[in-house]
Amino acid sequence: MALLEGKTAVVTGGAQGIGFAIAERFIAEGARVVLGDLDPEATEAAVQKLGGADVARAVTCDVTSAADVEALVNAAVTEFGALDVMINNAGITRDATMRKMTEDQFDQVIAVHLKGTWNGTRLAAGIMREAGGGAIINISSISGKVGLMGQTNYSAAKAGIVGMTKAAAKEVAHLGVRINAIQPGLIRSAMTEAMPQRIWDAKLAEVPMGRAGEPGEIASVAVFLASDLSSYMTGTVLEVTGGRYM
Ligand SMILES: NC(=O)c1ccc[n+]([C@@H]2O[C@H](COP(=O)([O-])OP(=O)(O)OC[C@H]3O[C@@H](n4cnc5c(N)ncnc54)[C@H](O)[C@@H]3O)[C@@H](O)[C@H]2O)c1
Repeated sequence: MALLEGKTAVVTGGAQGIGFAIAERFIAEGARVVLGDLDPEATEAAVQKLGGADVARAVTCDVTSAADVEALVNAAVTEFGALDVMINNAGITRDATMRKMTEDQFDQVIAVHLKGTWNGTRLAAGIMREAGGGAIINISSISGKVGLMGQTNYSAAKAGIVGMTKAAAKEVAHLGVRINAIQPGLIRSAMTEAMPQRIWDAKLAEVPMGRAGEPGEIASVAVFLASDLSSYMTGTVLEVTGGRYM
């Protein structure tokens, strides 16, 4: 029996990387997905790669806009009849040391991660509480646990997602809505491939398992948190890091 048979999930930032891998794995487990991302062509191309309109739909969405996120979560209900799982995954980096980081670089990262996750969490929870339950998964980062050089904006946002996850989980636990977070470590994606080689090598040297993770290794943990396998878990943070910063 597939773990997410008949469920509908929304994935923000689902056109590529970790979000796309989550969508792919969810469909393999019997779910249908709605991808919300910035570029309509890239999002539609992702839908085609996932198997087309029977299993996936594209919605153009900037997670910093409450109106966009509202349209995204509503699309799950109108297109596929329900919203069972919400994945708040959309993200950006604007790395720079504090001396060089601009106010705009700080604000952009806070807006996409923190406001975006807040929009997704509260609007999905609003639908799920009426429906009698659901699972929300917020993608934080190990950077939010330990703080990383050049990421005062990103570390703050990703730590904030942990606090938000726990506060929100307490508000809706009695309504059957579970909210958990994942903290990925070094995962191979466009975000990390943009890194200079020497920074990649330095990060890799910190991983006890001796390798970077693949997006699919975040997706399988998302399946666990989305499914009834984790039915008694809420407000938790799962580190998926190959042992880095354990
Ligand atoms: N790759 C890693 O090593 C790693 C580690 C820890 C956490 N993460 C987190 O995982 C998530 C996914 O990252 P990824 O590595 O797949 O990166 P990625 O850059 O490959 O994908 C991010 C996606 O988010 C979308 N996006 C960006 N801003 C958006 C917005 N305002 N509204 C909607 N969509 C938006 C992008 O268009 C893109 O499709 C992010 O939250 C990231 O911070 C990644």
